[in-house]
Order: sequence, then structure tokens, then C-alpha cells
Amino acid sequence: MNPLLARLHPYPFERWRELTQDIVPAPGLAPISLGIGEPRHATPALIEEALVKALPGLSRYPSTLGEPALREAIAGWVQRRYGVTLDPARQVIPVTGSREALFAFAQTVIDPTKPGATVVCPNPFYQIYEGAALLAGAQTAFVASDPARGFAADWDAVDEATWARTQLLYVCSPGNPTGAVMPLAEWQRLFELSDRHGFVIASDECYSEIWFGDEADPARGAPLGGLQAAMRLGRDDFRNLVMFTSLSKRSNVPGLRSGFVAGDTALLKAFLLYRTYHGSAMGPLVQAASIAAWGDEAHVRANQALYRAKFDAVLPLLQPVLDVQRPDAAFYLWAAVPGGDEIAYARGLLAQYNVAVLPGRLLARDVGGRNPGAGRIRMALVAPLADCVEAARRIAAYTLTYRPTSREPL
Ligand SMILES: Cc1ncc(COP(=O)(O)O)c(C=O)c1O
Repeated sequence: MNPLLARLHPYPFERWRELTQDIVPAPGLAPISLGIGEPRHATPALIEEALVKALPGLSRYPSTLGEPALREAIAGWVQRRYGVTLDPARQVIPVTGSREALFAFAQTVIDPTKPGATVVCPNPFYQIYEGAALLAGAQTAFVASDPARGFAADWDAVDEATWARTQLLYVCSPGNPTGAVMPLAEWQRLFELSDRHGFVIASDECYSEIWFGDEADPARGAPLGGLQAAMRLGRDDFRNLVMFTSLSKRSNVPGLRSGFVAGDTALLKAFLLYRTYHGSAMGPLVQAASIAAWGDEAHVRANQALYRAKFDAVLPLLQPVLDVQRPDAAFYLWAAVPGGDEIAYARGLLAQYNVAVLPGRLLARDVGGRNPGAGRIRMALVAPLADCVEAARRIAAYTLTYRPTSREPL
């Protein structure tokens, strides 16, 4: 057996299930889950129709690089969304969701024969980054994102020796769970560090299309992308930078398994080689549906309006009782709970009001005796509007009577 498998951590939802095994939720109240961040809005008809129309495609093997029409549709979207011009032949690879690509990329990039091979991750973070690093034979270094800095990761807290060993840095903007978007200055700092130490940046941007402002207001407009930041800073070769995104959240198709990576030509060439052996070509039906999805923005605007309505309805109910702000983007609320023991808080909420939220500690690692997820809960506003509002009412009622006790051990 591969000994590295033993280094993997249980997934946050598994740990939450264990932590709540003994709880019998209030029987009179219908369960509402704000726990799992899985999109639940309807899939647009144009995507379903394109998928069905492509059925005859089942008789062919797809290539790992995908059809030129798909790569052109993706490059077209990147151009319209970010003003970035990509060569669809060499700078775009379709992937079957960003999750597998974020994982596989580490297997391509990491050289475990170099002493102390390190992958730097934000903290809290999407757990795939850690599993990808460990299975590639690297070690992880975590960088806390703190409320005091608007949830920006404190990259300057990483020492020179760690950066010197770093081969790969994962960033997530808009962030899960914080919703924070990285500004240009933060990108500039990371590019400088990447130039100095030679590491690769994997930019996870799968929430980039869940935002709430309008184009006219740059402060609340569409989130800045990694390639866009590189272009603005004159790095049009995207050296050592690859972006990852998918249709899962943008187009409400988490079951389609469709996304893409784009950026540094040399890195993508190596990634394509890896993927050819890994066997992760996108099926022809999914490719056809994806072309339709990347070509349409009307459904994306409608989707944003649904999320905006939920934030508008839920925040006035929660803000009087919890320390919680509207995020820059994404569909999560990242709230501080009274007393700081979010596990006790979340267990009580489930027991008394049948509402599931995710304790922040499960999304982060302890570093130097501190867990930057502790004291916060993540609420995913993926349920229908009425359920989100009902959940917020129950959370408000619960919080008003909640009396923090001493900390429960994990
Ligand atoms: C931060 C982050 N990255 C990537 C993913 C993977 O999504 P997908 O594989 O559907 O693109 C998720 C899914 O929830 C996520 O939260």
C-alpha cells in the first residue's frame, strides 16, 4: 500500500458527521443544510439540450486535449471576462472539474526528490490542496487568513527558508470559505516571491462568477483573475502561473464535471503529458454542453441575482446577532460565533433547530497552536431562498439564547 495514503486527513464533512453522531435533531423542524457548498440552483436548459444533442458522440474516444471548438470557446470566455488573450492550442486544457485538476497538477509539478519539497496553502483552505501535496510526496506550509486583514492570507508570515523550499503555492480567490478576493497588490507580491524562489502558483478561481456588484462599481465588480492580474503587471507569458476554474458554480452543473486550466505554456505541456497517462479526457457530450455554457452569460447573471437575493434577505437577520459580513464573492457566510467555540455552537444549532452549518476548525489546520478557522462557522447559501431565510431566522433565535460554555475538545 502507498504509505503516503496514511498521511491524508479525513474530509471536513466526515469529521462533522462523527462530531454529530450522538445528536438527535429537533423532530418538529424540517432539516436545513447550510453545511455542504454544493450548488443547488437549476441547470440551465441550454446546457441540458446541448448535452442531449451530442449523444451520438458517445461512439468516439475523446482526446485529453479536448476538441479545438471547446478550447476556442474557453479562450473566448477568458477574453470576454478578463480581457486576456490565450492561445487555445497551447494555453488551455479542459479538465473534468477543478477538483481533479488541482489534485493532478501537484503530481505534475512537485519534485519529491528535492529535500523539503513544500506546498504552501492558505488556511482555512480547500482540503484537496493538502491531499495533493501529501500524495505528491511534499510537505505543507499553511498561511493564515485573518479577519483583521479582510481575510487576506498573511504571505509575509512565511519565512525565507520555507519559500526557498516551496515548489507550489495554492491560492483561492474568491476564497472558500472567506469569500475574499485577492487584489492586484497581493498578486504582485506573490509574483515577486515566485520569481525569486521559482515556485509555481496554482490559482483556484472556481467561485469567480458568484459576485454581487455591478460592472460600473469596480470595488464590487467582477473578481480579478490570476491571468488578468499577470497581464496588468506585464507578465503576458503567465510564467509559473496556472488558473483553475469550472462550470460547477458558474452554471450550476456540479454533476457535469467540466472545467479548464489555462496559463503557462510549459507547465501545461507537462500537465497534458501527465493527464494522457492519468486518463482524464472529457467526454464528448460534456464537451458539447460546456461549449454552450461558456458561450452564454445570461444564465450566469440570473444565477448571481439568486445568490444576491439570498445575501440581501439573510444578512439583516443575522447581523444583529452574529459578527458576519457580506463577502466580496462566492456563496458562503463566514461568521464569528459568540464565545468562540464554534463546534459547541454548531452542535447546539443542529440539536435545537435542525440547521447544519460547518464549524470553521474543520476547514483549517492548527499552526503554532492556533487554528484560524476556530470560532467561525461556514454557511453555504445554496438552499432555496425560503430555506435560507428560515435557517437565518432559526440561527438568530438560537443565538439570542445561546450561552457559551467551556470549550469542548475536538
Ligand atoms: C475552493 C474550491 N475549489 C475547487 C472546488 C472543486 O469544484 P469542481 O471540481 O466542481 O470544479 C471546490 C468545490 O467545492 C471548492 O470549494
